Amino acid sequence: MKITVFGGAGFLGSHVCDKLSGAGHEVTIFDIAPSRWLRPDQTMIVGNILDEDAVQAAVNGAQAVYNFAGIADIGEAGGRPVDTAKYNILGNVITLEACRKAGVKRFVFASSLYVYSKEGGFYRCSKQASELYIENYRQVYGLEYTILRYGSLYGPRADNRNAIYRFVREALEKGCIEYYGLPTALREYVHVEDAALCSVEVLEPQYANTNIILSGTQPMRVGDLLKMIAEMLGKPVEFSFMGDGKSGHYEITPYSFSPQVGKKMAPRLITDLGQGILHVIEEVHQELHPGMKTSMGYLIQDENK
Ligand SMILES: NC(=O)c1ccc[n+]([C@@H]2O[C@H](COP(=O)([O-])OP(=O)(O)OC[C@H]3O[C@@H](n4cnc5c(N)ncnc54)[C@H](O)[C@@H]3O)[C@@H](O)[C@H]2O)c1
Repeated sequence: MKITVFGGAGFLGSHVCDKLSGAGHEVTIFDIAPSRWLRPDQTMIVGNILDEDAVQAAVNGAQAVYNFAGIADIGEAGGRPVDTAKYNILGNVITLEACRKAGVKRFVFASSLYVYSKEGGFYRCSKQASELYIENYRQVYGLEYTILRYGSLYGPRADNRNAIYRFVREALEKGCIEYYGLPTALREYVHVEDAALCSVEVLEPQYANTNIILSGTQPMRVGDLLKMIAEMLGKPVEFSFMGDGKSGHYEITPYSFSPQVGKKMAPRLITDLGQGILHVIEEVHQELHPGMKTSMGYLIQDENK
């Protein structure tokens, strides 16, 4: 299948592109930044999702389109409400319109568990608005969709906007982790590669016009997660909890508002949270010490560097 992926150069989008290519699809990535993970069998278009002509050209001939582009961080969206409306809402409508004109068979959208919540600020507003536009494109023009409501993702290629990446990096660099909320905050972390595999599976016919929840299966309190990271690092790590009620993040559950009901999808095989975090530790350690490499759990000097 020919598939265009908006925002395919980002953390989640790049993993989905890998899995789509791995499943034999012909992938075109459209992103404002070139992908650092572009494979030889993928095509890269550098462009802005607000450029209607460029978006149309990228969508023409595609059978399926994914949209991961826009402002993905709650804090950033909080400080940039106009840009959040432009990239996340208007950008998505421009993409939907291009899909309608091109006769695309399936539109897949990266939403968030925050659509259920009163928290999440302008980020949540942009996801709720986008979901409504997608459902209305289905009603008015018959454009088939799948909305994926992702939970808290973690894994390779993340940066400081990602909670687990930031916790590990702060622990390694400063020996201290700061958290905006309370240790009792509950999260279901899901490995990005597990979520990416499910994101490809939803192209199957039974997922047309459905809203799917993609979160983890191992609920964990943030306080316990930080203890786990410290234990894995085998060194003393200080934790500081701000207990900030205005951070825009939820405490125990995101569910307080009910848009279209979503079904939870569980990957057949999941990455164990402990092992997934161990890989994040190795990745961050490598970034901080490029002269070392990991071998069977040990860090050794890389003779090639
Ligand atoms: N990471 C998570 O935990 C998580 C959880 C729930 C939902 N999501 C959603 O998944 C999607 C991807 O998130 P991510 O974590 O990979 O973020 P990311 O920032 O890594 O990816 C977003 C991508 O969009 C591109 N982009 C931004 N503005 C653009 C524009 N104007 N035109 C074209 N491309 C543009 C960026 O260059 C980037 O590659 C987002 O919609 C996000 O809201 C992510």
